[in-house]
Amino acid sequence: MRTIPIKIQFIDKSVQFDLVKAQNSTDHWFRHLEVQNIITEFIDRQFLYTDPDWTNATSVLDLGCGHGFYLNQLAQKFNEKKYLGVDIDQKAIEYAQNNAEKNVKFCCQDLYHLNLNEKFDVCFAKLLVQHLKKPQAFLEKMSEQLNENGVVYLIDGHDDFKRFFPQLPSITSIYQRLGEKYKQIGANRKLIYDIPLLASNCGFDIECENIVAGSSGRNFSHETLYEMLLINCIIIQQTFGVDVDLAQVQTELHSWYQHPQKFGGIGLHFLKLRKTRKLH
Ligand SMILES: C[S@@+](CC[C@H](N)C(=O)[O-])C[C@H]1O[C@@H](n2cnc3c(N)ncnc32)[C@H](O)[C@@H]1O
Repeated sequence: MRTIPIKIQFIDKSVQFDLVKAQNSTDHWFRHLEVQNIITEFIDRQFLYTDPDWTNATSVLDLGCGHGFYLNQLAQKFNEKKYLGVDIDQKAIEYAQNNAEKNVKFCCQDLYHLNLNEKFDVCFAKLLVQHLKKPQAFLEKMSEQLNENGVVYLIDGHDDFKRFFPQLPSITSIYQRLGEKYKQIGANRKLIYDIPLLASNCGFDIECENIVAGSSGRNFSHETLYEMLLINCIIIQQTFGVDVDLAQVQTELHSWYQHPQKFGGIGLHFLKLRKTRKLH
């Protein structure tokens, strides 16, 4: 693999990303999730933090929690609740356990074979739905784990709202080719659109559905978006085998970053379900 000896130094010193280090380790996936959590927080500020179901909840489950960034972020803000994160990735769970906030626990399990002895008021699945192969089984498991009247919050990407000024043609083409790869392997990046119908067959009512655009300079910093796009391109190359010219990506991002009227938009899908019926 090509290594590009560039270290990005942003004006915002808290955002630094060593591309060489990222390429030579598994750090890029770790940092990808960390940065994604910074970028997506605006949707929680808009819809979650003031939702009475959230403020009154005392027990919280997060399915597909990764390294635990999201739960720890929530636990820092809402420290009176009890949290449990579940993921199939043993290494991510080990990291999460070693870095857990007070009141946050993690365990390594496959969500399709969940075996937990407790029930929860709230269940999250963040940036998970588009990776699911068996959405109906996933919803049934969520229903089993929830208390009566409990709620599910699903947060997923909404690709159609991705837009940039000045335009980023190489990066846009990389995302298009990623979409094609997804189709080839039978995955569906728009699976969240099917969830409302499936959920009503699994004992849930749809309480709200929002698709929201967020932009750099308003909802998150330009630097954070820069970093996310760069790491995404590395991951798309390494994980999906999409042909990516990282030097070109970096040149494009650099001139975007220099532009005084730069703008970068992303979309998020926020779906809230309520368990109103028992399944069996
Ligand atoms: C894109 S990551 C999102 C992580 C986290 N929710 C976040 O927002 O940072 C998707 C996660 O789902 C986990 N996952 C995928 N299939 C799973 C399964 N069958 N059981 C449990 N976790 C699973 C992956 O290991 C990965 O950590």
